[in-house]
Amino acid sequence: MERIILDCDPGHDDAIAILLAAGSPEIELLGITTVAGNNTIENVTTNAQAVCQVAGIDVPIARGASAPLVTPQIVSHDIHGGTGMDGPELPEITGSLDPRHAVQFIIDTVMSEPAGTVTLVPVGPCTNIALAMRTEPRIVERVKRVVLMGGSYTRGNVTPSAEYNIYVDPEAAEAVFRADWDVTMVGLDLTHQALATAELQDRVRACGGEVSRFVLDIWGFIGRTYEDVFEFSAPPVHDACCVAALIDPSVIRTEAAHVAVELHGEWTKGMTVVNFADRPGMHHSTGVAARLQDHRTRVATELDWDRFADLIARSIERLSPTTPGRN
Ligand code: BDR
Ligand code: CA
Repeated sequence: MERIILDCDPGHDDAIAILLAAGSPEIELLGITTVAGNNTIENVTTNAQAVCQVAGIDVPIARGASAPLVTPQIVSHDIHGGTGMDGPELPEITGSLDPRHAVQFIIDTVMSEPAGTVTLVPVGPCTNIALAMRTEPRIVERVKRVVLMGGSYTRGNVTPSAEYNIYVDPEAAEAVFRADWDVTMVGLDLTHQALATAELQDRVRACGGEVSRFVLDIWGFIGRTYEDVFEFSAPPVHDACCVAALIDPSVIRTEAAHVAVELHGEWTKGMTVVNFADRPGMHHSTGVAARLQDHRTRVATELDWDRFADLIARSIERLSPTTPGRN
């Protein structure tokens, strides 16, 4: 059983990550924390509440940082729409938030649960995680591991070299990569293999009911923006890949690497500079290469799409009560 805190900025694929976590018996979702990213902290928090309400998910939700550590917030209207989760009809929110700030929620949970049992899953900018580390440094030795969505080693999606989550708060991401804990980077190289194809959408459609409809509306909207902006044939379900890898580690292949975040480059700010341990070809004795030899990050490279799709479909089915009139 993986016990996780999902730190997110819903966000269409964040929503699927929430549903996958809540609909999988291998995961205990200890709480959801929100962070400014795809949209304002107010909107992403409301969106997280809406996802939980639609699917009947009863876990604490704590609102977090309203801006990155150093730079101004960069929202993602072109991809996720004006609300951060355009597409599905969102319900009036009836539930209430956890009274604590997300940073406090993360600290309290990690410090009160047995050491080595809580996994952090940041799938938005790393702001909350960096703030939690700085506020209570002991969380670093108590957390089991960090499995984050962000970065890439081949291409970016905001600039040619930078992925959105890292680009918008690079200082926070760098702090997370440098800390002495077990980090897995699930970047675009992996998540662009995790497409919600027509086949997967058909399987979700077959579940019927409100959650299935909600997911299809999510993929309908994000599918259109991914087609318009990136010319993708189907939308990638980035954030759910982290949860899938925790449910079944064989869903992703990883390689050991050193990951550094570019903080200053005019063209490369927010780039994850990935030096794989087992890919030779550099002189390591001098200069920059010599400083990139601490290969303690696992970087995701290959996805088992069939297994991934099974996990997604299975979780939506679990969250969809069978009703006589289901469509
Ligand atoms: C990441 O950016 C966000 O728009 C998505 O939710 C995902 O976490 C992909 O670059
Ligand atoms: Ca996200």
